[in-house]
Amino acid sequence: MKVSPSLLAADFADLKTDIEMINTSNADYLHLDVMDGVFVPNISFGFPVLDAVGKICTKPLDVHLMTVEPERWLEPVRDCGAYLMNFHIEACRHSHRLISEIHKAGMKAGVTLNPSTPVVMLTDIIGDLDLVLLMSVNPGFGGQPFIRHTLEKTRMLRRMIDEAGSKALIQIDGGVNENTGRELAEAGADILVAGSYVFGADDPHARIDLLKAL
Ligand code: DX5
Ligand code: ZN
Repeated sequence: MKVSPSLLAADFADLKTDIEMINTSNADYLHLDVMDGVFVPNISFGFPVLDAVGKICTKPLDVHLMTVEPERWLEPVRDCGAYLMNFHIEACRHSHRLISEIHKAGMKAGVTLNPSTPVVMLTDIIGDLDLVLLMSVNPGFGGQPFIRHTLEKTRMLRRMIDEAGSKALIQIDGGVNENTGRELAEAGADILVAGSYVFGADDPHARIDLLKAL
């Protein structure tokens, strides 16, 4: 299993220490949650913070945009050194166009589905995607309980990807811990995002290793 710890649950008064923890861990990526207070009812951090994180983080940056009009933020996401730009399909009128622009900018392209958005929305773009993120909570806040329907949705998405011969990885975000993580691994997930489970622990490296072993 690949693991992408979510910086949303880090200590914002001491980000450097938390990023050093990530750099020395076995995490595969660092997940960055950008919120605009419009698409989701919360504001997290923006591009000045991403730029600063990009300068000291040695893991690939996995940027999860929870904003309206995600196409407006392509350049700032690229400029912070992001490995992957991920936007919500509910927030974008021309997903196909944005996916090609992300690729042209030299990044991997991901699309996110809210818990209420069915996987069938992906039928015509699944072959173009590097990653699909299924939200297993309603986006905007860390520490919420896992929505169990995500397990069935993960299985549906796994079938769609395999049938289409797509390279897209399945990422799950929200309420991930070792129990939900194990069920998600069985359902076919490739990457687990974990915020409070990792950063809220006394030994975050051990938690990352537990998820990686699933
Ligand atoms: C929620 C964010 C998540 C969040 C997950 O909108 O997209 O990445 O940090 O937090 P936990 O792992 O605590 O549910
Ligand atoms: Zn996220």
